[in-house]
Amino acid sequence: ALQNTGCPVSANAAAFDPFEGPYQVDPAASLRWSRDEEPVFFSPETGYWVVTRYEDVKAVFRDNILFSPSIALEKITPVSDEATATLAKYDYAMSRTLVNEDEPAHMPRRRVLMDPFTPKELVHHEPMVRRLTREYVDRFVETGRADLVDEMLWEVPLTVALHFLGVPEEDMDELRKYSIAHTVNTWGRPAPEQQVAVAEAVGKFWQYAGQVLEKMRRDPSGHGWMPFGIRMQQEQPDVVTDSYLHSMMMAGIVAAHETTANASANAFRLLLENRGVWEEICADPSLIPNAVEECLRHSGSVAAWRRLVTADTTIGGIDIPEGSKLLIVTSSANHDERHFDNGDEFDIRRENSSDHLTFGYGSHQCLGKNLARMEMQIFLEEFTKRLPHMELVPNQEFTYLPNTSFRGPDHVLVQWDPAKNPERTDP
Ligand code: HEM
Repeated sequence: ALQNTGCPVSANAAAFDPFEGPYQVDPAASLRWSRDEEPVFFSPETGYWVVTRYEDVKAVFRDNILFSPSIALEKITPVSDEATATLAKYDYAMSRTLVNEDEPAHMPRRRVLMDPFTPKELVHHEPMVRRLTREYVDRFVETGRADLVDEMLWEVPLTVALHFLGVPEEDMDELRKYSIAHTVNTWGRPAPEQQVAVAEAVGKFWQYAGQVLEKMRRDPSGHGWMPFGIRMQQEQPDVVTDSYLHSMMMAGIVAAHETTANASANAFRLLLENRGVWEEICADPSLIPNAVEECLRHSGSVAAWRRLVTADTTIGGIDIPEGSKLLIVTSSANHDERHFDNGDEFDIRRENSSDHLTFGYGSHQCLGKNLARMEMQIFLEEFTKRLPHMELVPNQEFTYLPNTSFRGPDHVLVQWDPAKNPERTDP
């Protein structure tokens, strides 16, 4: 029988380690045993209950009262006193934004801040995304070789994020460092000696975000989601608080940037590893929107998310006590055969690809999902048109930043023969 106390735990549950080994290589495959045998288990290594089947993960997302999102951005590894002191030095006060805000505060705030994400507003960003994408491809299209992450997929979503938020485009290199530190700080397991350096970067990120916000407050008439938030604060100060604005100024960059950069890198790796599929989308770009959706399902950039259990309950028939922390493994749910036929198979014609849980589900579902989709579609449109003969550099090893949740290869090396670039013969 399945254990419901977490003690004693099965050998598989005891061995579960989301920071290294099989989970880092392929989170969905590493949890197949769980989906089949023990879909809700207690992990002594992390102190989390792990939920791996599609229906259970979705049920958790569906009830944001019983399963509070308040711990979504909590540090997964306890911080050293020294790192805490370092953060204090910067008056670090990262607090609730949207993603980790409980009701009744969350929904009114989400409603007030939603307008810039509507399709009607997003179309205004499309020319900017297209122009940036073309400019970055221009830089390497004649060279025959590129690291797609370093030379494009990291920076373009960052610039798009800054633009969407209404931030000036300067300080990109600083921000890149800051965002990485933030991911390690939140979802990783930094070594004790690393923790202080991470805390320094996070502290600086926090201060920088505050400065940008102050600048915006002096003239909040600009385009972008943050100036919009400042204007909404003037109308509804209790709904759009100071703490929210400062926290979102920092968290928003990460939410919009790394998730999309990683999702795009995952998509290129997956498509180029499945050469036949790549060639199909080159021949018929109308396949791209569903291909993007299938990439998000098969190799999403958010591998797992978190919730806090606010009352004794059961998940998948297992008793879970109030106060338990849940690691809901979306990457596992997205490969669950109970919902997706041949879940491990990469099939860009799959009819229910968009049922994936990579953007979460329910009242907190990703607000930026259509912006992310637009970026990924434009990337694929431009590459399939301009570099259809591009291929992965053979035998490269893909590495990932060890953490539970944000997932994408550090590098994707590609090569092609520039003499065969279509635009040379048909500009
Ligand atoms: C929330 C994933 C891109 C803004 C979320 C959540 C996930 C997620 C898993 C939590 C959902 C839940 O709790 O149900 C992703 C992925 C992205 C992406 C995989 C790219 C492929 C973006 C972009 C933005 C953005 C481009 C733009 C600003 C947000 C916001 C929330 C959110 C504001 C909080 C919504 C709420 O709690 O009401 N995202 N995201 N995301 N995301 Fe994204």
